[in-house]
Parts: sequence; C-alpha cells; structure tokens
Amino acid sequence: MRVGVLTGGGDCPGLNAVIRAVVRKGEMHYGDELIGFVDGWRGVIEGDTMPLDAEKCAGILALGGTILGTSRTNPYKVEGGAQKCLATLASKGVDALVAIGGDDTLGVASKLSAEGVAVVGVPKTIDNDLSATEVTFGFHTAVQIATEAIDRLLTTSESHGRVIVCEVMGRHAGWIATYAGIAGGATDVLIPEEPFDVEEVCRNVKSRRSRGRTGCVVVVAEGATPKQGSFSVVSGEVDQFGHVRLGGIANQLAEEIEKRTGFETRATVLGHIQRGGTPTAFDRVLATRFGIAAIDAVHDGGAGMMVALQADRVVRAPLSAGVGEPKLVAHQFYEEVAKPFFG
Ligand code: F6P
Repeated sequence: MRVGVLTGGGDCPGLNAVIRAVVRKGEMHYGDELIGFVDGWRGVIEGDTMPLDAEKCAGILALGGTILGTSRTNPYKVEGGAQKCLATLASKGVDALVAIGGDDTLGVASKLSAEGVAVVGVPKTIDNDLSATEVTFGFHTAVQIATEAIDRLLTTSESHGRVIVCEVMGRHAGWIATYAGIAGGATDVLIPEEPFDVEEVCRNVKSRRSRGRTGCVVVVAEGATPKQGSFSVVSGEVDQFGHVRLGGIANQLAEEIEKRTGFETRATVLGHIQRGGTPTAFDRVLATRFGIAAIDAVHDGGAGMMVALQADRVVRAPLSAGVGEPKLVAHQFYEEVAKPFFG
C-alpha cells in the first residue's frame, strides 16, 4: 500500500517516535511505501510531500519536534481545501493516511473520512485533553519539564523569600498544571476547570509563609479564569481553528498577589519549553505503541478510527469519539489529590 503520514497542530515530544514506528512496521512487515506530507494539512492541500523510509527515520526516536513539520492549517477554512486534499491523495496514489494530531487535526481527519478517505488517527497533545484516550503522548514529557521547573523555581523563591507564579500550558484543561503542581508541591494550582478566587490564593500563600516556609510557587494554567472579574490574557490573533492566543495570566496574577499580600512576587511563563526537546522514555514507548497500532489499523479495517490507550491497552475508537468535548481534570481528583496540599 502507499500510506501517507502527517503531523498537524502544535508539535509535541514523541511525534518522531510515532513516525518511525509507522514507517518501520509499514515497510518491513507490510511492504508499504510511505510518503510524508509536509506541515500537516497544508502539505496535503498543496501536494507538498517528502520521501519517508526507514533510512530517513534513523536516529529520530529521541528527537523532539517532527521531521515532517507541522502547521495549524484547516482545509475546511481554505477555499476548496477539502477538494484539494482529495485531489492530492488521488494524484499521489495514496491508499491510506495516518494523521497524527490533536482535536483539530483529528477533527479534519474525521470529516475527510466521511468523504471517503481511508484515514487512521493518532492522538497527540501535551495538554492531554483528548477524549477517548486516557493519555496522549507528549503529556508525560511536559509534566516532567514543568515539574523540574517548579523544583528550580522553589529554590530561588526560597532564597529570596519571594512568591513565584509559574504559568504552564493548558487552554481548556489543567492536566499539566495539576500533575506538575502535585509533583512539585505547589502552594496552589489554578486550572480552567476550577475558576479561582484570588483572595483564596493569597490566603494559601500567607498560610505557607506563616509556617516559616519562605519558598512558594503557585502554578497557573494559561486558560485558568478567576471567579470574579477577568484577567486580560488573550491576544487578538485567532488561528484557522478559531483558537485565540493565550498567555500572560501569571504576570497579572503575580501583580495581584503582591498587591494583596505585600510579598514580593515574580512570574515565570514556561511556554514552548514544555513542547520542545526529547520525549521521556514513557512517551517514546507510548508513541511507538501508537505508531505500530496505527499502521496495523491501516491494514486490517481500522480506517475511520483512532488509536487510543485504555486500561494500559492500545485500542481503537472512532475518530469522532476523540474530538469535540475535551477531556477535563475531574473535580473529585482535584479536590482529593491536589487541594489538600495547597497553602
Ligand atoms: O498544542 C497545544 C498547545 O500547546 C496549548 O497548550 C497552547 O495553548 C497552544 O498549543 C499554543 O499554540 P502555539 O504554539 O500555536 O502558540
């Protein structure tokens, strides 16, 4: 078979490990010819491809980013985009497509599948907010990076007796903030699922300081919102999937904490550091398992499905199950495992 592969949306550690697994099993086990589409759906719309074989994938297992490039191009927001995708796939003789991406990329895959394209999805995002799978690869690496950052922020915060507000990614879901906050012993963790009260955050900060603990790190997800009022953390830019650019809540919260508590407060925005660099061993293995399962799905009737992790088994779910409603941090988990350590 001739199988196309693409990576779309924000990059994430482990993408290359998926590509490598798809290519290796595709070539060696099924005798497939692989073809890479450059920059996600843009490559499919414009017919921009690159050769993809085992040689090309040598040494990429531990490499961050994606050798295929990525973009947030949405064929359904480009004039005649979907038709162009169908035309490219026909002209390149592509029998099936493996689409590696998050909600947006898999949403497009799902629509193209309804138009007759044989496509298999692989769920990725550091945000871990995709339904149908318990974990996405990239999340474990992002949590590791954020936890290490919190550990480092804590020591400098201790030395100076400052509060540090650490902003992590998480547009709709606070998975990174919650896991890294628990792992790093944060004084408070603010996530989109649980609107926060600035006074309560300040109470937690003061309570920690009153116990003689000079170091204090508050973790905030970029999409967290206060119960009262709002922080303006949105830039004017909107991508083709309708997402505004977030960022900046840490700075505003830090100002507010300093004003209300009198403690010197600083902000650190981790930003794309969380998405870059080498994947953890866990993510390398998960990405490899997903890649193998995806090429198997291409060959045994799994078109229109995505691979997913459930109860530590790689299973298949309809593409439509993975998109739409994000998977959020459960209130009970936040209350029972994160909150007892605040303050
Ligand atoms: O891929 C998800 C994500 O990392 C979000 O957490 C974040 O809001 C967004 O991407 C940032 O996107 P960009 O890299 O396009 O600024």
